Amino acid sequence: MAAGIMDGKMLAQRLREDVKLEVEGLKHKGITPGLAVIIVGNDPASRIYVNAKKKACEETGIYSEEFALQDDVSQEQLENLIVQLNRRADINGILLQLPIPGHLDEDKLLMAIDPGKDVDGFHPVNMGNLVLGREGFLPCTPAGVMEILKEYNVQVRGRECVVVGRSNIVGKPQALLLLREHGTVTICHSRTANLAEVCRRADILVAAVGKPEIIKGDMLKSGAVVIDVGMNRVEGSKKPVGDVEYETAREKAELITPVPGGVGPMTIAMLLKNTVKAARLAAEC
Ligand code: GUN
Repeated sequence: MAAGIMDGKMLAQRLREDVKLEVEGLKHKGITPGLAVIIVGNDPASRIYVNAKKKACEETGIYSEEFALQDDVSQEQLENLIVQLNRRADINGILLQLPIPGHLDEDKLLMAIDPGKDVDGFHPVNMGNLVLGREGFLPCTPAGVMEILKEYNVQVRGRECVVVGRSNIVGKPQALLLLREHGTVTICHSRTANLAEVCRRADILVAAVGKPEIIKGDMLKSGAVVIDVGMNRVEGSKKPVGDVEYETAREKAELITPVPGGVGPMTIAMLLKNTVKAARLAAEC
């Protein structure tokens, strides 16, 4: 039987309605959450994501300000911008859209962001808090995946969780979040000796490698819950293609997220939630 679909788009919409109401409440107290979005260069995918983030802010009443910089911007100019934004009381969240051009030191820029305004959860302080199981900002995509699992009553505790991909943005924090919910977690990557064999152990599989359709149905345990974080641009396809081969995976899985309309919309919803959280922390309410 074909797998049930986990509708991230619908869940994200509901979360956005909640955020909108929360922002209205904050505005009655004289607080307007504010997000600064920094984009460097002309990457078309980044432009689409940034536009979507700005639109989501507008719809929920969050103030947003875009800083679009040329791809030859210097490290110093960017660091100065971040320092200024750290100081601004009307800006609660600062987001540096990745990837950025190679001449820039990404680590140093992410570290320049005030951890209290780090709504992407990429600062080492927030990453460290996640490792230690302490309160902090969680990276939006893996946090969105956890919301999807919760919404569809997928039990993580005690189950085999396989994360394919070890990026700082998704794979690593995803593994930590599943561990925090008491999953038995394995992380696979490009050097994993037998990917198919490890994947077949998974009760819950999260694919976040950025390789179109690398996970096929025959690599899944029957009845697995499959989360596809992939958003690959493929020639000849207008829509993004996931890391999971949807048609074959649907025949094996119990539940699966579609691409698009699965994890993608949740990333933005979690960003909005983090921005509201940052505004509350700043106002101590
Ligand atoms: N690039 C791809 N995903 C993300 C994200 O969640 N945040 C930022 N800042 N850049 C990204």
